[in-house]
Amino acid sequence: MTLNSLGLDTAITKLLANNLNHLLANYQIYYQNLRGVHWNIKGKGFFDLHVKFEELYNDANIKVDEIAERVLTLGETPLHTYQDYLNCMKVPVGKNISQDEKAVRLIVDSLTALLKIEREILNTSEEANDEGTNAMMSDFIMQQEKTVWMMRAWLNEKV
Ligand SMILES: [Fe+2]
Repeated sequence: MTLNSLGLDTAITKLLANNLNHLLANYQIYYQNLRGVHWNIKGKGFFDLHVKFEELYNDANIKVDEIAERVLTLGETPLHTYQDYLNCMKVPVGKNISQDEKAVRLIVDSLTALLKIEREILNTSEEANDEGTNAMMSDFIMQQEKTVWMMRAWLNEKV
């Protein structure tokens, strides 16, 4: 086993950085989903949801940057083209969604897909003793789970 300058296994770190790039790509798709529903939402819940989706895309924007900078910290190059993002797509794409329940469901489904990727990364980062990535994934998972709870409460559904 060779260790890099962070003291982490070189091979697993490369794998982790690639997985984080996969998360980055899917986060960008989630971000665009949020933009789409922020712009297109209609109906009596407009004011609430328009603002809520803006709050979520601002948070996603910060997380996108954190993921990209973690990729760089681990020695790889962050994906930044739409072409690359489409090749990694696991988050569902919502187009022209204006109905409130469909919009909220798209966001729940997007978060469910992101949580799956993050848990896979967490498994690898635990194995690699990569506390930096562990901590980041733990924070993301906890915050997103809370958002899923709130969105499902809005939908009147159980988690
Ligand atoms: Fe806006």
